[in-house]
Amino acid sequence: MFAMKVTRAAGINGELVLPGDKSISHRAAILSALSDGEVLITNFGSSVDCSATVACLRELGVRIAGDGSRLEVHGVGKDGLKQPKRELNCENSGTTMRLMSGVLAGQNIESVLIGDESLQKRPMKRVIDPLVSMGADVHGVDGHAPITIKGRRPLKAIDYVPVAASAQLKSCVLLAGLNADGETSVLEKTPTRDHTERMLTWLGVEVHETQAGDGKRISLSGDARLTAKDILVPSDLSSAAFFIVAAGFLAGSELRMPDVGTNGSRLAVVDVLKKIGVDIEISNKRLSCNEPVADLIVRGRSRISSENHNVLSGPIIANLIDEVPILAIAGTQLDGGLEIRNAGELRIKESDRIAAIVSNLKRMGANVEEFADGFKVERSQLKGGTVDSFGDHRIAMAFAVAGMFADGETKIVGAECAAVSFPEFFDELARIKY
Ligand code: S3P
Repeated sequence: MFAMKVTRAAGINGELVLPGDKSISHRAAILSALSDGEVLITNFGSSVDCSATVACLRELGVRIAGDGSRLEVHGVGKDGLKQPKRELNCENSGTTMRLMSGVLAGQNIESVLIGDESLQKRPMKRVIDPLVSMGADVHGVDGHAPITIKGRRPLKAIDYVPVAASAQLKSCVLLAGLNADGETSVLEKTPTRDHTERMLTWLGVEVHETQAGDGKRISLSGDARLTAKDILVPSDLSSAAFFIVAAGFLAGSELRMPDVGTNGSRLAVVDVLKKIGVDIEISNKRLSCNEPVADLIVRGRSRISSENHNVLSGPIIANLIDEVPILAIAGTQLDGGLEIRNAGELRIKESDRIAAIVSNLKRMGANVEEFADGFKVERSQLKGGTVDSFGDHRIAMAFAVAGMFADGETKIVGAECAAVSFPEFFDELARIKY
């Protein structure tokens, strides 16, 4: 395990080109593999998670040329995956495991999905249950990976109401629906990221969205085919969030980040930070491969005092779920602090993120209170010390930013896990920090 040391920063300056969005990269690889032709993906995410998806697809007989950010995917069609010779290793990636489960349920092959220690502890019953009701033979071990899937084609189309506000779960069922015998739909009460729907549409699949009570019904037909079409992945807003907070709260900073994904179902972190008073300029808004993209400029301010935006709860949480760790750090710099509620899903991410945030903030001298579904942190002068990544990339990066606001030196133990979503994080931080 490797520890990273971070010292207080005066500011951040320059331009940062972020890696391709992790969520969109997973979908780009999976959906081009299911398409009826060749797809060139550019700005594919450099994360270890995205490489796990590519490795699984190769194991399933998909020819994918290129390494790094440019991939040439030779699609096999939506039902053309081949019997794998070994287990499919999803490493640390919940998105790989849950989305691939949906794909594999509708193939006439047998496969086993495994993951690292953290992934094998995360709940998989939520995807196993709907896939079983669609007629696939799917087993976990007490609702966890390894997941064994004996696919069936066609699956039974279902009208599904998710048990959690989860884009992974929604996507799993929609992907299974591509190989079902009619129209599969997901009734979403709390909106979650819609990258699957957008990319399916980009590849020519008709995805219907209709209002249903206080929610939205998203449906597609099992007759759909995916047309090959090149994909340019926007830069990752969730990775940008660490630098938005760092630059935003360090007076004198000016940071430019081009071509960042600004999909509305991910943008709450920017809206919240702007309301709080962080100076974020969004320009050059456009649509790229059916995903909203823009350039961001963040300018630092010396003291930010929010009047009444210090409690985040309700449906907005699903829209900023991955940014809660870095928002907690923002809370330590904010007059009035920050309280996050209704975020129980954070306890079943790559780590128990509520416990990890609270324990590390306490180690850095912050005044913080833990709740079952969140926490409350007060404005605090952070002190350097030793914190733990808990093997969780977003915790490692959030506390690197905390170290930039803290007196003395902050040591992040297990910082190498940042590579799960952002391998270049610490090098980029060293380059633009002063
Ligand atoms: C993701 C959805 C979210 C998010 C994860 C990526 C996706 O998980 O936390 O990092 O790409 O669909 P849930 O769907 O479990 O909320």
